[in-house]
Amino acid sequence: MALRAAVGLLACPLCGHEIGLTPAAAVCDSGHSFDIARQGYLNLLGGPQPANADTPVMLAARARVLESGCFDPLLDLVTAATRDGRAILEVGSGTAHYLRRALGDDPGHRGIALDVSTAAAKRAAQADVRIAAVVADVWKPLPLRNRSVDVVLAVFAPRNLAEFARVLTIEGRLVVAVPNPGHLAGLRAREGLLDIEPEKEGRLLAAASEFFTKVATSRTRHRRDLTATDAADLVTMGRTSGRADPASRRADAAGQHPAPRDPPASGSGLRRAGDG
Ligand SMILES: C[S@@+](CC[C@H](N)C(=O)[O-])C[C@H]1O[C@@H](n2cnc3c(N)ncnc32)[C@H](O)[C@@H]1O
Ligand SMILES: [Zn+2]
Repeated sequence: MALRAAVGLLACPLCGHEIGLTPAAAVCDSGHSFDIARQGYLNLLGGPQPANADTPVMLAARARVLESGCFDPLLDLVTAATRDGRAILEVGSGTAHYLRRALGDDPGHRGIALDVSTAAAKRAAQADVRIAAVVADVWKPLPLRNRSVDVVLAVFAPRNLAEFARVLTIEGRLVVAVPNPGHLAGLRAREGLLDIEPEKEGRLLAAASEFFTKVATSRTRHRRDLTATDAADLVTMGRTSGRADPASRRADAAGQHPAPRDPPASGSGLRRAGDG
């Protein structure tokens, strides 16, 4: 059971005490109990998932895009930045594509894939026996013990910096990837997608400085010709379009020539700033 990877790391979302695992449930020292889904993930949300959770259709599109290698330059950056992380928390983990690579080959490394989407957790639970998939909201107190992980990873994902600082060990690292304004620029222009907010990276670094010291920033920029299927999947997997119907997006994309795209992104490695 991949959930075993989380033993000793998880904290009860209700009382903060350590969570232990039985085959069917996760139970804290105070007796709060949470069901383990038959697909192998642990749901600690304590209520319905919010509307912004990625859907099964979005996850399927994301999985195809990631498998196609479109984001491999970013995957390489993330893998280098997370190297030697023995216990890694990935937030907004989606399919856990980045976490799986971040764990390297060491069978002793372990990861927690945390996402607010049950569809994501189902996929993450299958990704690797060293990955425990947990459904939780990154904007609530994270269901992890203080100083329990040595890397927190957030790739195009929401960031609760105070909580990341709490769960990281003293020497721990936060690794964040954000899109820069040219990210998917060709596709955005063609499909009328929302622009990337300017200064995203600068604002992240300013906000993080309260809790972290910047260690490094790396950038990647590459161009790729997309098939119509790639383009449709890239639109479907995100929340950047005003158009809701994936089938109509696919039809639109299929009617046009493959467009060049240009997906720059930055990855920043930040170290916890002291004890605070
Ligand atoms: C843009 S996707 C990135 C997924 C993955 N990191 C990747 O790059 O392939 C953002 C992910 O964050 C999740 N998410 C959104 N809001 C969240 C929240 N409040 N707490 C936890 N996860 C959240 C979504 O369900 C989705 O899987
Ligand atoms: Zn409890």
